[in-house]
Amino acid sequence: MNVPFVDLNIQYKLLKKDIDAAIQSVIDRTAFIKGEEVEEFEKNFAKQYGVNHCIGVANGTDALYIAMKMLGIGPEDEVITVSNSWISTSETIVQTGAKPVFVDIDEFSTIDVSKIEEKINENTIAIIPVHLYGQPADIKAIAKIAEKHKLYLIEDCAQSHFAEFEGQKVGTFGDIATFSFYPGKNLGAYGDAGAIITNDDDLATKMRMYANHGALKKHVHLIDGINSRLDTIQAAILKVKLPYIYQWNEMRLKNARYYDDILEGIGDIIIPPVRENVTHIYHVYSIRTKHRDALMKHLNENGIGTAIHYPVALPFMETYSNLNHKTEDFPRAAKFQHEILSLPMYPELKIEMMNYVAEVIKQFFNKL
Ligand SMILES: Cc1ncc(COP(=O)(O)O)c(C=O)c1O
Repeated sequence: MNVPFVDLNIQYKLLKKDIDAAIQSVIDRTAFIKGEEVEEFEKNFAKQYGVNHCIGVANGTDALYIAMKMLGIGPEDEVITVSNSWISTSETIVQTGAKPVFVDIDEFSTIDVSKIEEKINENTIAIIPVHLYGQPADIKAIAKIAEKHKLYLIEDCAQSHFAEFEGQKVGTFGDIATFSFYPGKNLGAYGDAGAIITNDDDLATKMRMYANHGALKKHVHLIDGINSRLDTIQAAILKVKLPYIYQWNEMRLKNARYYDDILEGIGDIIIPPVRENVTHIYHVYSIRTKHRDALMKHLNENGIGTAIHYPVALPFMETYSNLNHKTEDFPRAAKFQHEILSLPMYPELKIEMMNYVAEVIKQFFNKL
C-alpha cells in the first residue's frame, strides 16, 4: 500500500467544478491583480475570525515581515521567538534589522513560557510565538507577559488556521496574526499566498499600504513599500475552500485520535501530547522516537511518506552561527530535533492507511 505524506488532489477533485469556475472567471475578466476576489476573501476571512481587518499578502513570510516593519521594528531591537519553527519566523526578524532571541520549546513543541522573561531586556520589542503543528502555544500566559513588559505580540498562525485556546481562536490574542496559505497548509492555495489579521485600524492601513508599494491610491506613494499582494487567482481558490475548513480540521482531529489509539504503546513511540483546553488542528502529526532515522527509512521503504518538522532547530542553523548558540542553551529543541517524525496527515486519510502505518511501525520495532 502507498500512503502519501499529503494528498492535495482529493480536495481538488471534490471542489473541481467550483475551483475551475473561480479560476476561469478571473481569467475571463483578466482581473489578475487586485481583482474583486481578493477583497471578498479578505472580508470572509476577517469575518470568520471576528476581527476588523484582513490584509491578503503574497505569502506567510511576507506577512511576518510586513507586520514587524509596520510596528516599527528595526535595528537595535530584539524579538523573542521560539526555537522550533520554519525559518520564516526568524529570517524575517533579521530582515528588519532586529536580532532574533530564541527561547527553548516546551513538551508541546511551542515556546516555553517559563523561559521567556529571562530573555527580556531594554531592547526587547516583541514576542512571536508559533502555534506549531496546529497546536496553540500557551497564548494567554504569553499575552500576559507581553502586556506586563509592553511588548508587541505577533502570532505566527501559518500552521494553525482556526485552532482555539480555551474557546478563543488563536490569532486574536495579540496585536497582529499572520497566516500562510502554502498549498499543504490546512487552508491551502494553489501557489504562494498569505494574510495578516488585526483589530487595529491604523496598523491595518499601514500594512495594506506597505504591501502595495507604500500606496493606498495609485501613484500616491506615501512610504517606500514592497510588492506583496495576494494574487487574485489564489484569492478565488481560497474563497471556494474557506467554508470547508472547519470540516477539514475536524477530519484531521478524528484521524489524530485514531493514530493516538493505534500507536500508543508501540516501541518507544511518544504520541503527540496535547495541551488542555485547546483545539489542535493537526496541520502536522509529529511523533517522537529515539530510532527516528531508521524508522523513517523503514516507513519510506514501505511506501509511507514522512517528513521532519524540523530537522535542525532554528538556533543551530548555520545562518545563526554568529549568535554562538550551544545545545545546552536549548536542551529540549536540541533533543527533539533528532526524535521528531511527522506521519501522513490530511483530512481524507483512510482508516486502512493509518492501520497500515501502525502495522509497518510495529514491524520495525519487532525487528529491533
Ligand atoms: C510557522 C511558519 N511560519 C511562516 C511560514 C511562511 O509561510 P510561507 O511559506 O507562505 O511564506 C510557514 C510556512 O511554511 C510556517 O510554517
